[in-house]
Amino acid sequence: MSLAQLRDAACACHNCDLYKDATQTVFGTGPAHARVMMVGEQPGDQEDRAGEPFVGPAGKLLDRAMAEAGIDRSTVYLTNAVKHFKFTERGKRRIHKTPGRTEVVACHPWLLGELAEVEPELVVCLGAVAAKALLGPSFRVTQHRGELLDLPDATARITATVHPSAVLRAENRDEAYREFVDDLVTAWSTL
Ligand code: URA
Repeated sequence: MSLAQLRDAACACHNCDLYKDATQTVFGTGPAHARVMMVGEQPGDQEDRAGEPFVGPAGKLLDRAMAEAGIDRSTVYLTNAVKHFKFTERGKRRIHKTPGRTEVVACHPWLLGELAEVEPELVVCLGAVAAKALLGPSFRVTQHRGELLDLPDATARITATVHPSAVLRAENRDEAYREFVDDLVTAWSTL
């Protein structure tokens, strides 16, 4: 299936219940044959409204970190392990909820489809949800951060770092940010 066909199919996906409350499916964006695919967790509030991945606060931090690491975001295929926003309502606010294994598994065909079409050389997982989706539920980003591994059943290599939201929440934000930029520099140096 082409990326356009995958996107259309994902937009009609009822594999789990998340489509019921989300505004729309947020599919991946970027060059169809990008050398690098970055995988996040799921769209956030702003992504859900815009229909584009990484346009909210985490996306802004990612943009800044990529620019500082000398990476042009437009060359990267950006997507998420889960394509619908999962949240609970608190007053007018929609609070992010981490997707569960069932939702990650339900969404997996779309991520696998994107991998098969884009055929990236390198996959960069942003955070535990993306890393577990592709490397198995027992994978720990804390233990294997920055390691270059082989992506199971594909020719790509894969590495995991923290999620940009974790940098935004970190106690020592400057240090967390520097380490995140360093991880991106190291990952791109393997190309
Ligand atoms: N966080 C993610 O993991 N993905 C997005 O698209 C936005 C925020």
